[in-house]
Amino acid sequence: MRSRIARVDLAKVCALAAAAFTAVACGPEPPPNTPRAVATSRCGSCHAPPQAGVRTRGALGPVLLRHRTRVRLTEDQWAALLDYLAEATDATTAR
Ligand code: HEC
Repeated sequence: MRSRIARVDLAKVCALAAAAFTAVACGPEPPPNTPRAVATSRCGSCHAPPQAGVRTRGALGPVLLRHRTRVRLTEDQWAALLDYLAEATDATTAR
């Protein structure tokens, strides 16, 4: 009997551990390296995450340059972020 109780407890512990792991692995966070995820997780800590399609590439250039001392990203991440944020503004706005 003693060993049976122990087995039940162990099963409970395993179920809890599995639930916790699932919550971590399948949370609402988007995949971490898309520009959108970078904007939400890295740029949203000081102000609201910047929205795509609001500022032109030309306007974003100096802003992102100022931000290089604020946020540490790889060159690829900066380039992808610029493409993402300037998306749909280039064709309609004079630069
Ligand atoms: C350490 C804090 C901090 C983080 C992190 C941060 N910002 Fe900012 N951001 C600021 C401050 C302060 C301002 C206002 C002054 C300025 O424009 O430099 C600002 C302003 C802005 C503006 C508006 C600028 C304008 O002139 O309209 C944009 C766009 C922006 N941030 C984009 C970003 C992006 C993209 C990231 C992520 C790569 C980011 N921010 C992360 C502090 C931060």
